[in-house]
Amino acid sequence: MTELFECMIINVNVKTIIILLIMEGVLRMALENKCQCAEESDQEKYTRISEIIDEYKNKEGSLIQILHLAQGIYGHIPLELQKFIAQRLDMPLSQVSGVITFYSFFSTQPRGENTIKVCLGTACYVRGSKKIIDRLIELLKVQVGETTTDGKFTLEVMRCIGACGLAPAITINDEVYKQVNPDKLKSILKEFEEVKK
Ligand code: FES
Repeated sequence: MTELFECMIINVNVKTIIILLIMEGVLRMALENKCQCAEESDQEKYTRISEIIDEYKNKEGSLIQILHLAQGIYGHIPLELQKFIAQRLDMPLSQVSGVITFYSFFSTQPRGENTIKVCLGTACYVRGSKKIIDRLIELLKVQVGETTTDGKFTLEVMRCIGACGLAPAITINDEVYKQVNPDKLKSILKEFEEVKK
C-alpha cells in the first residue's frame, strides 16, 4: 500500500514537472514571437509575409487568414502589399481588395492608437449618427478613414453592431458607447485620452 502511495506521489510530481516545462516552453515561444513591427524593415516584413503565403496558399479559404496575418505584421494592408499578395497567390488584385473592403477589421491605412467607429446602420442613422460623424470630423480634423496627425485616433464607420435599441452607437476600440450625443463626444475623447496616459 505504501509503495503504491509513493508511486502515486512520484507520478504526480513527474506530471507537475512536465506541465511546468511545457508552460515554460510556451512562454518562451510567446516571448520570442512577440511583435517586432516597429523594429523590422519593410523588406523583413515582406519576407515574413511571403513565408506565410507559402505556408497557407494551398489551403482552402486561406486568403482571409493570410490577410489577417499580413496585417498583424505590417500594421495595415496598403495597395502595394495587396498587389504582392495577389501576385503570390496568383489571383486577381480585385479579389484581394474585395475581401479587404468587405471586412471592416482590415485596414488599408495606418491606424491610430485608438479606432473610433460610428455605426451607420438604419437605427443609428435615423437617430443622428451623421451628426456624430460631422462632430468627430470637426474635433479630430480628419475625414472618415483617416488618422489624426498625432496618431491617436482613426475614424471609421461600421455596420449595425446590434445595439439598435440604444442608438446611436459608436465604438472606441472594443468599448461600445450607446445613445451618443454629439455634445458628449469631446468629453468622451478627453476621458479616453486621460485613461490611456
Ligand atoms: S443600427 Fe446601429 S447598432 Fe444597430
